[in-house]
Amino acid sequence: MPTAWGPGRVNLIGDHTDYNEGRALPMAVDARTTVAFDAAPVGTVELRSDAFDEVATVPVDVDPDPRLVQALEPAWARLPAAVVALARPETGGTAHVKSDLPVGAGLSSSAALAVALACVLGVDGSPVAVARLCRQAEHLAGTPVGLLDPLVCAGARAGHALLVDFATLSTRDVPVPDDADVVVVDSGERRALRDAGYAARVAECEAAAAVVGPLGLAGPEDVVGLRDPVLRRRARHVVGECARVDAFADALAAGDLATAGALMVESHRSLADDFEVSTPALDATVATLLSCPGVHGARLTGAGFGGSVVAVAEPGAVGPTVPVPGTRGGSLPARHVRPADGCLRSAAR
Ligand code: GLA
Repeated sequence: MPTAWGPGRVNLIGDHTDYNEGRALPMAVDARTTVAFDAAPVGTVELRSDAFDEVATVPVDVDPDPRLVQALEPAWARLPAAVVALARPETGGTAHVKSDLPVGAGLSSSAALAVALACVLGVDGSPVAVARLCRQAEHLAGTPVGLLDPLVCAGARAGHALLVDFATLSTRDVPVPDDADVVVVDSGERRALRDAGYAARVAECEAAAAVVGPLGLAGPEDVVGLRDPVLRRRARHVVGECARVDAFADALAAGDLATAGALMVESHRSLADDFEVSTPALDATVATLLSCPGVHGARLTGAGFGGSVVAVAEPGAVGPTVPVPGTRGGSLPARHVRPADGCLRSAAR
C-alpha cells in the first residue's frame, strides 16, 4: 500500500513573519504523521485516523469551495477534505492516518497531515509547490495561515533548522549544534481564541502593510511612520523579529547558544507586548524554563493564544517534566526533539 509521511515542526524563532514576507527559523522534528492509501475504484476517499473515532467520507471530485469544506463533519476531516479537493486523486480509496504527533500541542500536526496526504494522493513537486497546495487547503478549511508549517515539514534537513525567507521563498540549512537540546513544553492551554485572534493579526498586518509595504521588508524607520498605535506595535514586532531571526541563525551556526537564547527571550517579550499573542500560562511556562540552570532561552512558539513554548537548553538541564505553578499536578511534560528531515528532503537524497 503506498504510504507517505510528514514530520511535525517547531519554530525556533520568527513568529507571525511568514504571512508578512519576513523570515523564520523552524525545524522539522522526529515525530510524524503517516498516511497509507488503499486505492480502490470508488468515487470517495474514506479518511480514518488513529486519533479520532469518526470516519469521514469525501467525494474525490469534491469542490474546492470554502463554504462546503467548512460545513463538513466531522471537523477533523475539513483539512484533509480540502487536500483531496486540491489534489484531485484519480481514484478513491481509504486513507489510514497514524501519528505520534500530539494534536493541538504546537508541533503542527495539521501541516504534517496535509503534506503526508497530498504526497500519498500523488501531488508532487518542490517543497514550495507542495507547501503552497497545503496552505491553500488550510485556507479552504478556514485558517488563513502562512507557508511556515508545510514548507519546513516538506523541506527541512536532518540536523538542521531551515532559515526561510518568505519574500523570495529561498531557504538555507542552519546546523543545530549537538549541545543544543530543543525542548517543547505544551502549556496545557488550548488555543481557544486562536482562529479569531490569528485572523485579526493577519488583518492588522495587512493594514500596516498597506501604508509601509510588506512588513518583512520594512525597517524601523517605516514603523515610526505608522500613526495607529496598534498597527505600529504589530509592525514593530515583525520588523524586530526578522532581525532577530537573522541574528539567531548566525549565533546558532557559530554555536553561540547564549546569544541565541537571549534573542529567544526578546522574541517572547515582543510577541507578548507588541503582538499580544501570549497568555499568562505561556508567560509562566517561559518564566519557569528560564529559571532552570542551563536553559539558554525560551519563547512561545507558533501562533500563540495558548499552545506551546520552545526552549534551547544544555543537555540534561531540563528533565522529562517542568514544574509549573498553577498547573494540574504542578508540572508539564517536556518533549525533547531532534532536528529531522522533511519528507521531500529525505526523498531527494
Ligand atoms: C501558525 C501558522 C503559521 C505561522 C505561525 C506564526 O503556526 O500556521 O503559518 O503564521 O502560526 O508564526
